Amino acid sequence: MNIADQKIAVAEAALAWIEPHLHHDLVLGIGTGSTADHFIDLLAPHRARFGGAVASSGRSADRLARLGVQVYDLNTVPELPFYVDGADEINARLEMTKGGGGALTREKIVAAASKIFVCIVDGSKRVATLGRFPLAIEVIPMARAQVIRALTSLGAEERIGAPDIALRTGPDGAAFVTDNGNCIVDVSGWSIAEPRRLEARIGAIVGVVESGLFALRPADVLLLAGPDGVETF
Ligand code: A5P
Repeated sequence: MNIADQKIAVAEAALAWIEPHLHHDLVLGIGTGSTADHFIDLLAPHRARFGGAVASSGRSADRLARLGVQVYDLNTVPELPFYVDGADEINARLEMTKGGGGALTREKIVAAASKIFVCIVDGSKRVATLGRFPLAIEVIPMARAQVIRALTSLGAEERIGAPDIALRTGPDGAAFVTDNGNCIVDVSGWSIAEPRRLEARIGAIVGVVESGLFALRPADVLLLAGPDGVETF
């Protein structure tokens, strides 16, 4: 299977994994990205078998609603037993980087609210050390320059490499704006040997909303596609 087929295969595996848990009161947490999109498309025909979903982005909420799945505000949902989402990278401890789609803060909120995080990825996402994919960090716009300076110092202090830091732009060349009205800086060039420590340190920088490091709350289940099929960890 190529990568495109692996994304579909892992979404099918996620549906098979979640099906035994479906019941009328169940509200599912649903993530963002092309793999999550496949999962939404496969899940939607089963909408009568569960209560609905909380989405981690406007984009996923729109897709779910278009396909007839009831979308809830997280604040109205008493519990979220499962969260199904992709990742940009995942290591052996099921720590991840996320945010390639720009939805990292809402993804982190929904992940924090969920009991079981089921991560669904194609084989290209499995890494020994996080950091190959640029690390997304959502930032309050007025703090952008000082956050970039703080991230540069942090890289030196932690001896994880000199970062190459870029403000994310959209297709029109203008600064990308998150669902929360903020900007994103993408940090390349770090080899993240201690993801939990780095997540805490980035989170302590004033002006940072969230980082795309998901190490303090890693995934609980990994469905990993490869050329020959999907494995569960
Ligand atoms: C969205 O912000 C990201 O965290 C996604 O989960 C991640 O980029 C995975 O995307 P794909 O499923 O498109 O590879």
